[in-house]
Amino acid sequence: MTISGKTRVCAVIGDPIEHSLSPVIQNAAFNALNLDIIYTAFTVNASNVINALTGIRALNFLGLSVTMPHKEKVIPHIDWIDNTAKCLNTVNTIHCKENKLLGYSTDGIGALGALRENGANPHGKRVLILGAGGAARAIAYTLIEDADELVVLNRTVTKVEKLAETLKQKFGKKIRVNSLSPSIIRKEVIDSDILLDTTSVGMKPSMDQSLITSDYLRSDIVVMDIVYSPVETRLVREAKTAGAKVINGVEMLIYQGAAAFEIWTEHKPPVQVMRKAALEQIGRV
Ligand code: ATR
Repeated sequence: MTISGKTRVCAVIGDPIEHSLSPVIQNAAFNALNLDIIYTAFTVNASNVINALTGIRALNFLGLSVTMPHKEKVIPHIDWIDNTAKCLNTVNTIHCKENKLLGYSTDGIGALGALRENGANPHGKRVLILGAGGAARAIAYTLIEDADELVVLNRTVTKVEKLAETLKQKFGKKIRVNSLSPSIIRKEVIDSDILLDTTSVGMKPSMDQSLITSDYLRSDIVVMDIVYSPVETRLVREAKTAGAKVINGVEMLIYQGAAAFEIWTEHKPPVQVMRKAALEQIGRV
């Protein structure tokens, strides 16, 4: 594409940021739709978050992705946040519109998109989530509206109890929580339709680790791992061995990026193009 005086700019800020796949994914999508937009990445340390947002406003960026560790820190400095982002106290997407900075959280939509588009609609299903970090909270917040029952297990129980209280107050819906011991996981998996691992277990360089082995699983359960580096985690391999339906971490990455793309451009995101770009980049590194 030709960068001209009219080209709009999007970027991701975080620290560290060099390994972000978002520039590759978003630029592939902008190119595929012939949109005059470019996407780049900036390392921004915590003391510079306000300056970065001031700059983005002044330079009339189109959009911004916000990643670790700034998803909470940006909130006091933007003009509006949507209800999900407000409740979760986390923003990963900013739309700069008419000189206002509008904040969203697309992690939950990303997980829901990944499930639905891969033939695993959580509607009326029993969903088991492992972990209670930022990603798990966004996912639980989104899935609780659809799922019949939500069970969340976490190594640190106080964290998961806090999440249960927030969700109960907001939705008045039941969510069960417990600690993350092998015996509890084994027991809870038995009645679950969908298992979502949001922990960092199995991520590079600890690729041989998994909270679950194939003997915990059945062929009629859906297993989704949000770790995408490596794409084929030990959990993904164990689930395949059990004959389960498997959704890897690239899917959530793609669909949360697709949601951001749609917010910025109001175009239907070219998901296939985004997936291909992500997988090629992962293969290269
Ligand atoms: P993210 O924003 O990606 O969700 P996070 O907020 O750091 O990242 O959350 C990481 C999750 O992985 C947490 O639920 C964490 O459990 P704790 O709350 O007990 O820290 C979980 N996790 C990380 N390493 C783990 C391990 N070895 N065993 C079990 N859970 C683990």
